[in-house]
Parts: sequence; structure tokens; C-alpha cells
Amino acid sequence: MDEQILVNALAGLPVPDIRYVDTIGSTNDLALEWLENGAVDGSLVVADTQTAGRGRMGRRWVTRAGAALAFSLVLRPSTVEAARLGLFSPLAGLAVCLALENVYGIRAQIKWPNDVLIDGRKVCGILAEAAWNGAVLRGVVIGVGVNVSNAALPPPEELLFPATSIEAALGRIPERPALLRAVLAQLFAWRGRLSGAEFLAAWDARLAFKGMAVRIDQPDRQPLTGTLIGVAPDGELRVKTNLEEVLVTAGDVRLRPAGEDR
Ligand code: BTN
Repeated sequence: MDEQILVNALAGLPVPDIRYVDTIGSTNDLALEWLENGAVDGSLVVADTQTAGRGRMGRRWVTRAGAALAFSLVLRPSTVEAARLGLFSPLAGLAVCLALENVYGIRAQIKWPNDVLIDGRKVCGILAEAAWNGAVLRGVVIGVGVNVSNAALPPPEELLFPATSIEAALGRIPERPALLRAVLAQLFAWRGRLSGAEFLAAWDARLAFKGMAVRIDQPDRQPLTGTLIGVAPDGELRVKTNLEEVLVTAGDVRLRPAGEDR
């Protein structure tokens, strides 16, 4: 990959400025810095390797040379979009899911809120970060990491959740610029529908573990167990516990093995 290949691959999409780097700490860090220094809506950072890739909840994200797609998109949300800020990361999850479905014929699912799974294994992680000036939203950076080839996968002992790659599902390694184009095309197409029921329906239809017994590990709270029902109108996860239906706003969803009683 190089910048010119990306410029050609993304022609016609609302991506006015692209920065490609071979190696960087984290594309999100560069995109956040760029946002502070005037990056316009749709500006894009792409890297071949990340040496300090970041995941949700302070985790590490490994990006190996030539094996993954790692990018961060700078968005400057409108006032209407800013009211639905929490939906930007599922928007990216849906975009990856639909790109895999439509372009490669791969059936993918979304583990709430935004991890993309193939056959129950994680193929893509998303880290959306907002930048504020006091109470004023300056912008949001959506960071997306996709395991393109098998070489992207960390050793099993380093994984918190089973992982897979597009190569494993497709039987070949897709071209990263074409994959990036497919994902961004979906993201921009759905961005305008963030406020509508159609977006929630498309997300909900691809939700992993629906109707199954799950455990939700929540930050600073006891884990919650119950049956996963679906996505609520504001993007929370609906979980039916023994007692009631609960709306979860943050956490990690795991399937609960049969017989586990807490
Ligand atoms: C997660 O699953 O916890 C989220 C992983 C997000 C990784 C991507 S790779 C591109 C961007 N840059 C980062 O440092 N993180 C995101």
C-alpha cells in the first residue's frame, strides 16, 4: 500500500485528505492530533503497522506489517449527529459487516457494541474516540482494525476472545485498498441514516448471540448475566435477567457456557 494507491482506491468517496504511514504508534493518536490541527470531515489516516495500537478499555491492539487493515477516520459530526454520538462505533461495525457480506459474501455478525465476528470469532475491532473543547464537541475519530490475513492473528495465549481473519473465511487474502473502499462506502452511506429506525434494524439484525445466555462484563460493576434480547432505540443492549429487562450502556459481551450459573 502507499498513499497514491489509496487515493485511487477511494476516488469518489467523501475523503478529502489521506495520510498513509508505514509504521506508527496508533492511527487514532495521529488522527486525534490532526483533528486538533484542523483536519476536515472525512480525513483519513491509514497505517501498515502500529507499534502501540489501542483497543477498547485500555487494551492493546496488534497490527502486523502487511497483514491487517488499520485506519482512523476523522469526522466532524453535525449537531444532529452529535446527539447520537454513541452510534458512531456501531456505524463502523455495521459498515465492516456489510462490506464483508456484499463484497466477499461472508456472513458476519456484530458483537455488541461493535466487534465484528465471523463464525463467532473476532475479525475486527473498533475504537471511537471523541475530542472535546469543554462541552463543545470538536470531532470524533473512528479507529478500525481488521485482521485481513492469518498473519494478523496474535498467538492464542494473547487473545481475550477467539479471533479470525478474512483470509480464513474467504480462502484468499483480499486487497486492502478495495476492502477499505467497501467499508468506507458503507459507512458514508449509513451515516445519513444514523437517526432512523433503519440503522437500528440493520444493526440489530446482525447482532451476535441473540436469544442466548450471555455474561456482560461491565466497567466498575458486577458482571450481569441474562438472555441477550437486542439493541434498544438509543443503542443500549437489552438483556433479560432473572428479574427484569436491563439496558446495558457499556461492557463486553460473552457467551455463557451451558451450566455456568453466575
Ligand atoms: C478493540 O477491539 O478493542 C478495538 C480495537 C481498535 C483497533 C484500531 S486499529 C486502528 C485504530 N488505531 C488504534 O490504535 N486502534 C484502532
